[in-house]
Amino acid sequence: MSLKISRNTFFNSVLATCLFLTPLVSTAQEAATSQSSAAVSNSSSAKLINGYEPKWWKEAVVYQIYPRSFSDSNGDGIGDLKGITSHLDYLQKLGVNVIWLSPHYDSPNADNGYDIRDYRKVMAEFGTMADFDAMLAGIKQRHMRLIVDLVVNHSSDEHKWFVESRKSKDNPYRNYYIWRPGKTGPDGTMQPPNNYPSAFSGSAWQFDPTTKEYYLHIFAVKQPDLNWDNSKVREEVFSLMRFWLDKGVDGFRMDVIPLISKQPGFPDLTPEQMRNPFAIYASGPHLTEYLQQMNREVLSKYDDMSVGEAAGITLAQEPSLVDDRRHELNEIFNFDAIRVNREGRKFVPWTLTQLKAIYTAHDKALTKHDWDTVFLSNHDNPRVVSSFGDDSDKFRVPSAKLLETMILTLRGTAYLYQGDELGMTNYPFKTINDFNDIEAHNGYNDEVLTRHSSTEEAYIENLRHMGRDNSRTPMQWDSSPNGGFTAGSKPWLAVNPNYETINAAQETADPVSVYNYTARMIAFRAKTPAFVYGDYKDLDPQHPHIFAYTRTLNGESYLVVLNFSSDPVDYELPGGLKAGKLMMDDYGGDEGSTGTLHLKAWEARIYQQ
Ligand code: NOJ
Ligand code: CA
Repeated sequence: MSLKISRNTFFNSVLATCLFLTPLVSTAQEAATSQSSAAVSNSSSAKLINGYEPKWWKEAVVYQIYPRSFSDSNGDGIGDLKGITSHLDYLQKLGVNVIWLSPHYDSPNADNGYDIRDYRKVMAEFGTMADFDAMLAGIKQRHMRLIVDLVVNHSSDEHKWFVESRKSKDNPYRNYYIWRPGKTGPDGTMQPPNNYPSAFSGSAWQFDPTTKEYYLHIFAVKQPDLNWDNSKVREEVFSLMRFWLDKGVDGFRMDVIPLISKQPGFPDLTPEQMRNPFAIYASGPHLTEYLQQMNREVLSKYDDMSVGEAAGITLAQEPSLVDDRRHELNEIFNFDAIRVNREGRKFVPWTLTQLKAIYTAHDKALTKHDWDTVFLSNHDNPRVVSSFGDDSDKFRVPSAKLLETMILTLRGTAYLYQGDELGMTNYPFKTINDFNDIEAHNGYNDEVLTRHSSTEEAYIENLRHMGRDNSRTPMQWDSSPNGGFTAGSKPWLAVNPNYETINAAQETADPVSVYNYTARMIAFRAKTPAFVYGDYKDLDPQHPHIFAYTRTLNGESYLVVLNFSSDPVDYELPGGLKAGKLMMDDYGGDEGSTGTLHLKAWEARIYQQ
């Protein structure tokens, strides 16, 4: 195990939280346009593959774009939609078939677009609706699909609904948000209605002087929670969803969607519940009802996909959101794997056996009616190679390739985050001023400046490993100033200084780069149904460094062997197994179908058996 990931530091936030027409079509993009599934998926005569109903979104490789950091077309230092459109060929060549776009809506950017001011307007910094339409057309022309972020647990406090809501207690929009009177504290002062903490430090309640009541904000003060118990709010959300679906988007990634139903009466969290507030935030009594209504009135009417960000949802609860007989969501992001290195607010060492146990637990808990996601990165987490691989000069490339191999062959829809395909790394942050993220700054004010529960040094050291800005530094396109992200002089967030060696221009030209390996791996997955619908078996759960598993479909079996260590390992396959025919190897070279594999550091191999 890489020593880098075993440092015991602190985490800085509470958020430490077919119809079967053809078998898989031959390329990833063809898979994306295959209309095999949803339109006909409710047919009882649907032909199953290994018990699973085939769907395009089960076969997809999804690529997340954080628009602010992808590509700046006009030199203002901020990524934009035209920038994305100019790089669609790059994504098509990589082979991904669905793009998930982080919020592109009008926003004052308290939380980089996760605070929406107008759900039907494009953020001016990102361009215009015409730019969005051109981007969407470009995506479709290249046989890819687009899902957009749906952020409807909360809006911006600058949304016209909230501007109205806070004006008076009898305003027609008052009940669009969650307002409660304060409590009188023992000393006679006004206190928040309960003890809920915000994910971004401090109380989740904000006093508003105009009406002398508090409003709920699980996230920032500028992100008031919407009141889903109000049927008008639900209709507003369904209407804006139709607006984007009618435009041609293919579905939604739903931000913290389990939080939409609140606990009646807002009782205080007990000390035990306070250890994991999201478990309570995510278990309101009307979640099922609201999601089923959303599915019935919107999602079921389109050939779309839905993936819910499921903070606070345990594996045992996962089927209650994704079982296809319930008609709610298609899939969720469960955080068991990506947060294997965190315990509450603490960053803790992780082991490969823990990670393997998580994937096995998912395999056992989910039935043929459920579908999972596989991801180890996104805009809220550090870079995948820095967290789960070894980002030293020596092992960055093989360990990045190994991680892509794993993500693309485990059970579930595969998600890659922009820059993973280049093996981009965490940023060498030095001071709090290097950060943009509200979570980093609020935590600093709270832990370092106010409560003194962390020293400045320990806090920044932790952020170097866990801070969200690690993944938000701009894409590294080439070796020109600022990595070719912007022609301007000042990107909104500094580009990682390693852009001169790690960049797309260099990697697309290099046949053995992380990018080209990932493209080959995606193409291999696209023509191998076993990686999507096949059974999963971990062959050696206890081995501390080797992850060896099979994916088997209709008698066709693939053996994946991953050496999760920065040392070579001679590995005897369990049960007298012989390796088979080598199909993929992140180093190259073939030692034949032997029973003992001589694996190099971070070597990843796939055999057909
Ligand atoms: C989860 C999003 O992924 C994160 O970036 C955001 O800060 C919170 N939800 C609030 O919207
Ligand atoms: Ca721009």
